[in-house]
Amino acid sequence: MTTFDGLDSERREQWTAAFGAHGAAQCGFCTPGIVARLEGLAMSGRPVDRTHIDRALAAHLCRCTGWQGIVEAAEEVLDVSGVRSGPTADRDTDAASRRATIEGRTPQVVAPEVIGGRGGFVDDSAPRDALIAVPADDGWAVGETLGRARAAAGKVQGRRTSREARPPLEIPEGAWAVRLATSWVEPAYLEPDAAWCLPGAEPVLGPGNGGDFGAKTGSPLRESLAAAARRLADEYGRAVRVLPGREDVVRRGPKRPPLAVGVDSHGRGVLRIASGPGVAGTAARVASDLGLDLDIEVVDIPGPPVSTSVRAAVWAELVMVSAALSTPGSAVTEVTHPEGGGARVWLKPEGREDGCPSIEIEMACGEILDSVVARSYAVGAAHMAFGWITSESLSVDHQGEIHDLTIRSFGVPRASDTPPMTVTLVDSDGPPVNGSDAVFAAVATALWRSLGFPPWLPSPPGGRSTPG
Ligand code: FES
Repeated sequence: MTTFDGLDSERREQWTAAFGAHGAAQCGFCTPGIVARLEGLAMSGRPVDRTHIDRALAAHLCRCTGWQGIVEAAEEVLDVSGVRSGPTADRDTDAASRRATIEGRTPQVVAPEVIGGRGGFVDDSAPRDALIAVPADDGWAVGETLGRARAAAGKVQGRRTSREARPPLEIPEGAWAVRLATSWVEPAYLEPDAAWCLPGAEPVLGPGNGGDFGAKTGSPLRESLAAAARRLADEYGRAVRVLPGREDVVRRGPKRPPLAVGVDSHGRGVLRIASGPGVAGTAARVASDLGLDLDIEVVDIPGPPVSTSVRAAVWAELVMVSAALSTPGSAVTEVTHPEGGGARVWLKPEGREDGCPSIEIEMACGEILDSVVARSYAVGAAHMAFGWITSESLSVDHQGEIHDLTIRSFGVPRASDTPPMTVTLVDSDGPPVNGSDAVFAAVATALWRSLGFPPWLPSPPGGRSTPG
């Protein structure tokens, strides 16, 4: 097995330069594995073309970048495209990191070492002789190794289901002009939440980034892991690494609140939304800002926790409803975020051979700071919107139990499923502001419109018209 670090230094530099030049890494958690896989493709003797690159990438998931930069970097290094990135030595990495932080809404670093997998992930900094703790039914199971801790917990990680996901809330009765019900969706950041602690010390938590819909930053799971690491380190008198598995993160990490809304042609209607901290206030404020007169019903539903810190939660949904009312046939979707960022999005029918349109994006984000990073976040946001509208959901039963517990089961689009995208950045002297939330909402609106405003999401192109 050859890892990224096992490649010779010249080849590592080549991959690093190409990934940097194409904005192909954000958090960097997926990157070394993807590079190793692509290098394996180069060594395999198989044809190196877009089809085989897509096939190689099918074994991976990148939640941040929307794949396009990765494919471009692969085509460059594997000599498919015939292009060569220019030198990046004079790049202002402080400005690039600032743009990444604004778009990710959490501190992010743009640097070559991130591409090599050294993005500051929490468990990388933990003492190797630490005990390991994993969640168990009655608290925490602790062992000298991950295998022993998991054996003590008596858990087998990873399940998925063929049980279909469906929106958990019914659209209120009424003669509505626009109806929309959304499903549970997993943020799916790649680095699972984790923490470690030395006895008597402060717990160490990882970065808040990770290509998610924003949920990692405000997750109550982080606080509970930090508290557990501190308590266990004090109890055992040794360093303890607290390492929940993917299914623990899926069960306990917050999601964007599912909602069901009906609105008449005057913008009056009823919004049902899953209850959670700040949900009612956010829904009321967003509805008012968008000129919607909604009766808001906050509903306790069995299921995972919800958070309004998930990317554009509630705002994007009501932007879509508002656009469906006011500009149902518009070819171009224009969205302005309350913070000042903006996006114009339209779909070009002849995007891909299978009929999938390409997504054309203009993003306004004040002073651009770094065009590669700004573009990367625009594509990443568009990829998230594409997944949210067409394929992503979690199956949650009536008792609130989640049945999709592996990263493969969330419906995140693969490279081969993702439409081509073109990003134009609108230059401005204004202060830098987040642009990718507006891109997310605008792409979601444009895709929803292109599908004929189906009332239930996700709605695959040519797919079902009723839930379940
Ligand atoms: S860069 Fe791929 S998951 Fe973050």
